[in-house]
Amino acid sequence: MQKLSAMATKPVYTARTADKYVLYQESVQNTEFEVQMVERFFKKFRGQSPVLLREDFSGTFLFACDWVRRNKKYQALCVDIDPEPIQWGRKHNLSQLSQAEQSRITIKEADVLKVHKPLADIVVAFNFSYWLFKEREQLKTYFQSVYQSLGPKGMFVMDSFGGSAAHSEQEEPRKCEGFEYIWEHEKFHPLTSEMRCKIHFNFKDGTKIRNAFVYDWRLWTPLEVRELLGEVGFQKVEFYWEGTDQETGEGNGIFRPAKRGEAAECWIAYIIGLK
Ligand SMILES: C[S@@+](CC[C@H](N)C(=O)[O-])C[C@H]1O[C@@H](n2cnc3c(N)ncnc32)[C@H](O)[C@@H]1O
Repeated sequence: MQKLSAMATKPVYTARTADKYVLYQESVQNTEFEVQMVERFFKKFRGQSPVLLREDFSGTFLFACDWVRRNKKYQALCVDIDPEPIQWGRKHNLSQLSQAEQSRITIKEADVLKVHKPLADIVVAFNFSYWLFKEREQLKTYFQSVYQSLGPKGMFVMDSFGGSAAHSEQEEPRKCEGFEYIWEHEKFHPLTSEMRCKIHFNFKDGTKIRNAFVYDWRLWTPLEVRELLGEVGFQKVEFYWEGTDQETGEGNGIFRPAKRGEAAECWIAYIIGLK
C-alpha cells in the first residue's frame, strides 16, 4: 500500500506538461533553509528579531512566502520587474498561505532601483540576480539604493559563486525528482567577466525544455562586492563560505564565517552587508 501511494505522488514530468517555474523552484531554490539562515544572521549581527524583509528580484517570491510562514510577526515586500513570475507566484505560492500570512506580504511590480520605502530590516537578493548589473556604477547605484531602503540596523544578504568551473564553458547536469536539471555556462569572457548562463530541463520520456531561463551577467567577485558595499556606506561586510562533504567532495550546505575561502573548482558563498 505504502509503495503504491508513494508511486502515486511521484511527479511525472514531460516537456509538454511541465511548468518551468515548478521545475525552477524544485531544482534551484531551497527557501526554507535560506529563511532560517537569514533569520540566524540577523539575530547574530543585530541581537534582535527582524520584522520587514524585502525580497529583491523576487520572481515567484517563494522566499517571501516562507518568510511570513516562519513567524506571525514577519512581513515581506517583494519586488520584481516582470509581471509573469509575479502572476505565477500569486496563483501558485501566495494562494498556499493562510489569509493572515497573505496579509503580511506586499508584492510590487517595479524596478529594484526605484523602491526605497518602507524601510526594511533585511534586503535579500538571491540566486546571483544582482549580477545583471554589469557596470561598476550600475551595481554601486543598486547598492546605494539598498542602503537607503534599510532601517538603521539594516542587513543586506546576497549570494555569490565562483571557482575555476565558473570561468569555463560547460553544462552541468543534476538529477532531481522526476527530471534532470542542467546548468549551462554557455559563454564566459575572461577579459570582462561577462557570462551567459542557461537552465535546461530533460525528462524521462526523452523530451527537453531548452533555455527555460537565460541570464546575461557579469561574474562579480566577493572582494569587488565588499569594496562597493563599503563605498556606499555599509560599515561591515561578512562572508559565509560553504563547507565540503568529505565523501562526495560537494558542498555540504553548512555555511561558516570566512575571510579567504578555498580554491575550489566550484564554490558558493553568502555576502552580508551591515549598516
Ligand atoms: C534569477 S531570478 C531570481 C528569482 C528568485 N529570487 C530566486 O532567488 O531564485 C531574477 C529575477 O529578477 C527580475 N528582475 C530583473 N531585473 C530586475 C529589476 N531591475 N528590478 C526588479 N526585478 C528584476 C526578473 O524578472 C527575475 O524574476
